[in-house]
Amino acid sequence: MSELNLILLGPPGAGKGTQAERLRADFDVPYYAMGDILRAAVKEGTELGREAKEYMDRGDLVPDDLVCRVIVDRVDSAEARDGFVLDGFPRTVAQADALAGAVASLGRRLTAALSIEAPDEDVIRRLSGRRMCDKNGHVYHVEFDPPKNEGFCDQDGSVLVQREDDREETVRHRLEVFHDQTKPLIDYYARQGLLRRFDGTRAPEEVHGHIRATLATLRLEEEL
Ligand code: AP5
Repeated sequence: MSELNLILLGPPGAGKGTQAERLRADFDVPYYAMGDILRAAVKEGTELGREAKEYMDRGDLVPDDLVCRVIVDRVDSAEARDGFVLDGFPRTVAQADALAGAVASLGRRLTAALSIEAPDEDVIRRLSGRRMCDKNGHVYHVEFDPPKNEGFCDQDGSVLVQREDDREETVRHRLEVFHDQTKPLIDYYARQGLLRRFDGTRAPEEVHGHIRATLATLRLEEEL
């Protein structure tokens, strides 16, 4: 089997984490979500967490130099030898350049940048209803993807919580940051022939089906 080196792009709340969870079940490759890594660092009170917290609370991006090293080390790790799924990285052109350099220095290449797309108003509605498993981060929505027992995770029974940056005014700021700093990556990856776009307003299972079909086609093309 060939390597699967994937990037998930999209605005906050487009469903990157939701699809990543499904892709992790499909493919045996490690998943690195920059937001999860940063939130864990904040919880543990590490130097990275202390520096990142004020940016995250405002809905701003954490400076490139802090996040690039974290991801470059993971991509270069033994567990990522057969591939990886990156969620929330890169988010700036500087981060994309750093990733390209790291991947090239390992003699590898990206398989695809999967762009999950949804309008701002949908995203605001989704994030205000999002709930997450306090222990393992499994994602739900009170209306669109509810757990079987309200307030508790289906997978491990942990309490579901709301993220601090899911307040509406912070979500609106995160969207501005996305349009300003991350959206240019759509063209960046399109120019490289790596971009694959998905309608994130479809139901989660439908989006997942489209991504799987796209990846199957990419693999077939690679074998030809
Ligand atoms: P991060 O944690 O990455 O947040 P984000 O990109 O804003 O993305 P979200 O996790 O909010 O959304 P998602 O697309 O994963 O949606 P989800 O699947 O949960 O980053 C947080 C912060 O960390 C940033 O603001 C920044 O400060 C910092 N940071 C992170 N990476 C950084 C970087 N590279 N550089 C600098 N700073 C960085 O879905 C949302 C909701 O919708 C859920 O409730 C879900 O159940 C529901 N849903 C999902 N799909 C569907 C669907 N198809 N239909 C209906 N509902 C759906």
